[in-house]
Amino acid sequence: MHDFHYRDGELYCEQVPVSRIVKELGTPCYVYSHATLVRHIRAYDGAFRNIPHIIAFAMKANSNLAILRLMAKEGSGVDIVSGGELFRALKAGVPPSKIVFAGVGKNPDEIRDALKADILMFNVESPAELQAINDVAASLGLKARVALRINPDIDPKTHPYISTGLKKSKFGIAADRALEEFKIASTLRHIEVVGVHKHIGSQLTEVTPFVEAMKKILKLVEALKQDGIDIRYINIGGGLGITYADETPPQPQDLADAMFPLVRDLKVTLVMEPGRVIVGNAGILVTKALYLKEGESKRFVIVDAAMNDLIRPSLYGAYHEIRPLKEEAGHRPKHQVDVVGPVCESGDFLAKDRPLPDVKPGELLAVMSAGAYGFVMSSNYNSRPRVPEALVKDGEVHVIRARETYEDLVRGETIPAFLS
Ligand code: LLP
Repeated sequence: MHDFHYRDGELYCEQVPVSRIVKELGTPCYVYSHATLVRHIRAYDGAFRNIPHIIAFAMKANSNLAILRLMAKEGSGVDIVSGGELFRALKAGVPPSKIVFAGVGKNPDEIRDALKADILMFNVESPAELQAINDVAASLGLKARVALRINPDIDPKTHPYISTGLKKSKFGIAADRALEEFKIASTLRHIEVVGVHKHIGSQLTEVTPFVEAMKKILKLVEALKQDGIDIRYINIGGGLGITYADETPPQPQDLADAMFPLVRDLKVTLVMEPGRVIVGNAGILVTKALYLKEGESKRFVIVDAAMNDLIRPSLYGAYHEIRPLKEEAGHRPKHQVDVVGPVCESGDFLAKDRPLPDVKPGELLAVMSAGAYGFVMSSNYNSRPRVPEALVKDGEVHVIRARETYEDLVRGETIPAFLS
């Protein structure tokens, strides 16, 4: 459920007509609803109320400082995957005691910064990385809390690019090597083994893969206990899907209900890393139709947003609903069109072969469900300044990121003297 709806013939974000935001910010722009964000994080948190838990919002989904501050105010931590994300999280006021650090390629500088910040734990993805963390911790005279990320070899039944828990995936330590690696980890002087981590994929639309993966993890936790290694945290990752088209993904409560019987008798804290389910439907990308074009065999609606602003359709063939801001436009006759951007690539599209009502040049469109992996994956390709982001709350519009300028595009670039 989200807070973008038609009222008086216009698309609103909460109590604000989106067209009003466009007057202020221009297009393209991202718009987020505060009410939706808060409802989503509370629903997730509330669903797990009977299980000791920490929510570590997967900030890779949306890392704007304002969104992170909002999550922190709601009591959430974050899952980070880089030194840059650590920097943002700390700047936004996320408590280090609720920061977990994942990713297969943490470099020594990032490890050092995270140790100095005293984050809750590292999610370790390989034996070599574990050694590197031990070495950096030794150089600082510290002990690093770690969870080993286990690859449970479970098919999450989602897009291959966002499946992470299969044998062929680069993530985690193979389940059958896990016990051995935990034993090695527990002998390292600057490592404190506190948890097990898994994340099998994103945009999951069933609970079963979560349950299967958890069962494998629990077997491991039991075996570790026999060996005197006490696990205090089980991190179940993120991955709960959202409705982009007609998917009916489980609700956070369904996931919690499935997890509860499995962990109720254990003395562990669950860590969860939801991203998409919190922010996905809380944001839209607003774009303007520039031109209509009748190709040889296709109709194109050329809009001012492009693959550099929202890459999901180009990269994954992802579906994002497109709605006109004027409700009346939605009732016009429909035609099969491609909605494409100005970038010079055939792969630059926001929708392909989509039956859309007739759109006139100058009309505004909302690309729905763009709050997760939207702005964060945007780039300056074709020297397009990145677009602004606005957060709506209680009838007010807060610009939480300004539109980049042309000067921003060349910041840091220099022409060497020999070219002058
Ligand atoms: N934890 C870990 C270790 C992850 O790798 C991810 C996502 C998450 C949590 C959060 O997953 P979520 O709850 O958002 O599904 N760019 C792709 C999604 C990539 C997901 C990467 N990992 C997309 O636009 O669909």
